[in-house]
Order: sequence, then structure tokens, then C-alpha cells
Amino acid sequence: MDADKQPLRIGLVGFGCVGQGFYDILQQQPNLGLRVTRIAVKNPTKPRTLPAERFSYHADELLADPELDLLVEVIDDPAEAFRLVSTALRQGRRVVTANKAMLARHLPELVQLQATFGGTLLYEAAVCGSIPVIRTLDAYFSHEPLRSVSGIFNGSSNYVLTRMSEEGSDYAPALAEAQALGFAETDPALDMGAFDPRSKAVILAAHAYGVFLNTEEVLNLGIEGIGAADIAYAAALGQKIKVVAALERLTNGRVTALVTPQLVGPESPLYAVEREFNGVVLEAEYAGTQFLQGRGAGGHPTGSAVLADVLAVQRGTHYGYAKQDTAPEAQLLEELEVEVYLRHADEGVLREVLTWLELPADAIQHDGYGPYATGVVALQQLFAWRKELRQNGVFVARQGAVRLTAPVVQEAASAWA
Ligand code: HSE
Repeated sequence: MDADKQPLRIGLVGFGCVGQGFYDILQQQPNLGLRVTRIAVKNPTKPRTLPAERFSYHADELLADPELDLLVEVIDDPAEAFRLVSTALRQGRRVVTANKAMLARHLPELVQLQATFGGTLLYEAAVCGSIPVIRTLDAYFSHEPLRSVSGIFNGSSNYVLTRMSEEGSDYAPALAEAQALGFAETDPALDMGAFDPRSKAVILAAHAYGVFLNTEEVLNLGIEGIGAADIAYAAALGQKIKVVAALERLTNGRVTALVTPQLVGPESPLYAVEREFNGVVLEAEYAGTQFLQGRGAGGHPTGSAVLADVLAVQRGTHYGYAKQDTAPEAQLLEELEVEVYLRHADEGVLREVLTWLELPADAIQHDGYGPYATGVVALQQLFAWRKELRQNGVFVARQGAVRLTAPVVQEAASAWA
């Protein structure tokens, strides 16, 4: 840093796992020309690693402080995060956030606020922790058509799956470990129910395809109902169960999105992604297949992504959203089907599930663990019954790619040639 250059003054809102990770990295790299001058937290009674006088208990004080050059928002309350970030953008400020739920819900409005008021919002830390996937899609692949973007976008659920399959651990202690290691959300149902990776998929869709999806319309099925029987079923096929988020350009040109457990074989790079690691497979039209892997959760990996954004903001970086003007339509559920594996220990429940999903009664089979079923179901049915499936602890995994139910009628003139 130049001796006469003032450090960039950062206002940090939130001092949880990510906030502390970011702060800690900065302490270890004092020559970056960055200084956290103010920190706002919510709870004045919570024990902290820094003296009490370092904290403000009113984030609005930071918004009102003209001395701050940049705000870093890393709280876990999406509504409050939106209030803070949108207010800061209305002031034309530069903001870095890691709040995926907030971004997935409000991205079009936040993009508009940047355009109107001249501020900047970067959020690499919101998706796949330390993996630079947003900037890869937004900048490097800004004009490259992508066939699909898929991967493991949640570290906590992947950690649980790894512990269950490698160590034979039960679900509850594996989840408790993921929480203790600082990987899980405050409400771990967001991780285990695949709500968190759904938000990340929605954010990536804006950069990969220029499509702003409605989060609530994207199917997400989680692993709350998983048991040793499911892990063993996959292993017997030489596969593993992974929670895979997929954005895909269909043969009709539209883009679809979903997040579900999936049986994954060793031919996929996702097969070897374990513990809190995340992985993203990009199928690009001209560049071909690429695979990014890295730590998807944890204070330091996520804090590292926040720091990268802060430095990028300092350099004047903005996201381009280059594909917005040519964005394809979203095809979320209609006319789509997928092959699934379903299990519930109670055959009566499983039978009822088959009626919900319009599968024949003879879809039920048995193995050493009890009854399970396989078959091709309409995505619309899975979406319609998703809450009942979750509440009843039914485990559902997809066994292949999502496909259109009706073949696409080609409009090419070749038929007449
Ligand atoms: N709870 C999230 C996960 C943190 O487990 O991936 C990172 O977004």
C-alpha cells in the first residue's frame, strides 16, 4: 500500500462465523489497505472475541456514517439484511453481502437499485463459499452459452451424507457435528431441506442464463428422511447420494432448475466431493466441461470470498449480468419428468406416496432394509406433494436427468427439403 494512501474504511454488519472469519483474515493480512473501522451486531449480551467498545448495536449507525467507504453485510436475517443492503444501495454505497436467502428473494430489485443509484453489490460468498463461481459465470462465461450448471451447493448436508456413508454415522449426530463446525445455518432445516442450495441455484441462474427465477417455484427436496437403507441402496449400485442443484437448458431452449438428492456414480466429479466441500460442473457450449471444487462453508473459506469481493469493489468491479437481454424463458415444472427412488420404512405410507405421485402399486420392491419404489414421475407432482413428502419423512432421490415429457417438435425446414 502507498504510505500516503488512506486505508479503505469498512463497516462490518454481523460478527458470526463469516464476519469473524473475514475479520480474522484481515488481521493476518494488515498490508492490504483495508480496515474494519466499525462493527455492528444485534445482541449486546453475547460474549465476543473483541472488546465491547468495538461494537455498535445499531446497524443504522453504520448506514448513517459518511466516513465508511464500504459495507460488508454478513447477518443471517434475510429481511433485516434486505433493509440494510437496499438502504445502502439507495445511498449509492458499495456493499458486499453473503446473504443468499435475501439475494435469491430480491435480486431483480437489488440489480435495479445499483443501476438507479450508482452503487455496487458483490456477493461471491453467498454461493459455494470459497469457490469463485459467480465471477466465473458473470465475467469469464458472460457470452458463452451454457448447457448446464450443476453441483453440490450446500456444505452441511454434504458433510452429513459423507459422515453417514463413510463412518456409518446416524443422521442426528452427523448434523450436530456440521453445526458445531460452523457449517450449518442458524436454522439447519434450511440446509437439510435444501432451501439454502435452492437460493444459491437461483442466484447462479441470473449469472449463468440471465434468468431471475422465483425461488418459491423451484423444487427443493432435502435429506431429512434419509437413513442407512438409502446409503446402502446407492452403495450397492456403486453410487453415492448427493444433494445436487441443477440449472439446465432443455432441448426446447428453456431453462429449468431444481435441487434434490441424486444418485451419483463415480463418472461424475461430484462423486468425490465430500464433507463441507462444494463442487460445480459447468457444461459450456464451446469451452466444454469444467469442474470447480472448494470449501463451501466455514468462517475462513467464506471470509476469504468476502475479502475477495471487498478488493474487487475497490478495483471498481461490478457484475455484468450480460445474459439478461437474451435470457431464455424459465421452464420450472410443467412437461418435465424424472426417474426417482423413494423409500419409507412403512409400506402403507409408501403405498400412499405412490398414489400421490401417480406411480403404479407394483413400483414397490424390497431389499434387506425393507420396501422402496422406483419410477418416472412428473416434476409437477413432486412439487405439489413436496411438503407431505417432507412431513412424512419420505426419502426421494433422483436417478437421472430431468427430461421433457413430450419430444420437442423441431421447427427446422429440413422436413420439407
Ligand atoms: N450453511 C451453508 C452450507 C453455509 O452448509 O453450505 C454456506 O453457505
